[in-house]
Amino acid sequence: MGPVTEEKLAKFGITDVYQFMSHSPQEIRDMTGIDADTAVNYFAKARQALLDNQKIDKIKQTGNDIKKKRTNLKRVTFGCKPLDDLFLGGIETQALTEIYGEFGANKTQICHHMAVRTQLLEKDGGLSTEENPAKVVWIDTEHTFRPERIEPIAERFGLDPDKVLENIIVFNVRNSVEQQMQLEETEKLIREDNVKLIVIDSLMGLFRNEYLERGMLSVRQSRVNKFIGLAARFADVYNICVLVTNQVSSNPDGFHIEVQAIGGNVVAHTSTYRVFLKKSGKNRIARMIDSPHHPDGEVMFKITGIGIMTIEEAEKYEKEQKKEQAKVKAAETRAKNKNKKGTLDEETVELSGIAIIDNGHSEIQI
Ligand SMILES: Nc1ncnc2c1ncn2[C@@H]1O[C@H](COP(=O)(O)OP(=O)(O)OP(=O)(O)O)[C@@H](O)[C@H]1O
Ligand SMILES: [Mg+2]
Repeated sequence: MGPVTEEKLAKFGITDVYQFMSHSPQEIRDMTGIDADTAVNYFAKARQALLDNQKIDKIKQTGNDIKKKRTNLKRVTFGCKPLDDLFLGGIETQALTEIYGEFGANKTQICHHMAVRTQLLEKDGGLSTEENPAKVVWIDTEHTFRPERIEPIAERFGLDPDKVLENIIVFNVRNSVEQQMQLEETEKLIREDNVKLIVIDSLMGLFRNEYLERGMLSVRQSRVNKFIGLAARFADVYNICVLVTNQVSSNPDGFHIEVQAIGGNVVAHTSTYRVFLKKSGKNRIARMIDSPHHPDGEVMFKITGIGIMTIEEAEKYEKEQKKEQAKVKAAETRAKNKNKKGTLDEETVELSGIAIIDNGHSEIQI
């Protein structure tokens, strides 16, 4: 294209072919003022350039082409057997995994857990190599990323918490335009910085708040489409994992209440895997709702202070925690007693080697 058009696109942050292709011809026309035929022509050229450079796949592929591509597929494991079984080994690269459920269903907790697990070495279930630690981009629309949740999970899996935090790049976005722009800018990080997981928590929150009126629905859906389409393309082209959370709406349907992920068909069709999280007391149920190759099924798990566990592991861990807490409390009580004038407990005497001389006065001489 000519330098004038190029300059106009640059003003909108479009500086390469990928970014160009992630917009619709209509949007390109609005940005540059070029006519419809020219826009379509640019798209054809851009697509050809990406195909020639093997940056995107041919639309027509043989079964073997796809099989070959899927041999590059990698997984981040949960390190929790029932969930790894449900996901047939963990969340996949080249895929967009959507977890949805009501508030407090543990969507954000799972994101914290997986942001740590991604940084494990490949042999341990993550996507790091000795030379190249895996990084995570977290697009936080709810401002619920918490370093203090990451640290104990990192320690549990033998990772240095400071390094793990350093490798998570968090973008606190405040509106859906920023959400879109931040995702676009993430492409540079993926290419240059070994980003292996993109967390989007949550996908629809800002869109839902900003497009409240019914009349705005189609505009909203076209923006959501653009956003989620780009995220899915990153997963596919760069062989990385994309994990998105989504909220639910409840529709009374005859005798029961139907709980659905929001975002409509646009989200449903773009997500490769959809998993529904349900509360069951303090435990959680994860159900595979939609997958091209996973059998339907559901499993139970529990969130603890150090991340996801099976119910049995969590019970054992919580018992040990209680014991630890009781020990700490006992030590505190002893320490308090030590400070009381005239009282020294036996342990203090023993540890310090202090000799106590009872000189017959009311105060003890030591
Ligand atoms: N340190 C912890 N130890 C044990 N459980 C915790 C801890 N921190 C949070 N939780 C559990 O996680 C729940 C919150 O889960 P989370 O924030 O992942 O929900 P969510 O699905 O993201 O909800 P929302 O839709 O509101 O974003 C808490 O109610 C609590 O039960
Ligand atoms: Mg949350």
